[in-house]
Amino acid sequence: MFTQVKLNYNYNAYEPYVDALTMETHYSKHHAAYTKNLNDAAVKAGVGDMPIEDLLSSLDKVKDDALRKAIRNNGGGFYNHNLYFSTMSPNGGGEPVGKLFEAIKKHFGSFEEFKDSLSQLSISQFGSGWGWLSANAAGELSLSSTANQDNPLMDGKGFVPILGVDVWEHAYYLKYKNLRADYVKTFFNLVDWNVVSANYEKAQNKK
Ligand SMILES: [Fe+2]
Repeated sequence: MFTQVKLNYNYNAYEPYVDALTMETHYSKHHAAYTKNLNDAAVKAGVGDMPIEDLLSSLDKVKDDALRKAIRNNGGGFYNHNLYFSTMSPNGGGEPVGKLFEAIKKHFGSFEEFKDSLSQLSISQFGSGWGWLSANAAGELSLSSTANQDNPLMDGKGFVPILGVDVWEHAYYLKYKNLRADYVKTFFNLVDWNVVSANYEKAQNKK
């Protein structure tokens, strides 16, 4: 049974960066639907007990085409939004500290260059999708973007997403309309770098 991560704050706590109605619809409708649809498909496919990371990085184990597609889309939607909501905080923003900060500097030159690159990838993703900061077991970082609800786990290259920027219109359209770049810029005000740092540590402890 896959369950949605709990939100630590009320829907209106993310204002003015993300409005309350967007948060509520995103979490209680979109994310809830991905979660329900994943559970339904995973039970039918006999993979309801697999850890979600393992399931998404070995989708070819699901032999039925329709179920594999349902698990890819809804399992991605479930996992991606658990990551997204867990890294958002009204007390977020600023920069990471410690090992993650050092790794960002090493890989991207500076925090600002990292932010610009991830923003550009997210803004220029055609149609619905995500921008990603990912890490592997060696502590290397990678930036990428994907369409739909795909994510770097599905590449099978050993990179685990540690921060995701949701650029589906459902994440921003009520407030930002067509101005995706404005939403992406403001999203960084909500990023809880403590959680992203913990995700970075976890990615390195993966066997
Ligand atoms: Fe979303």
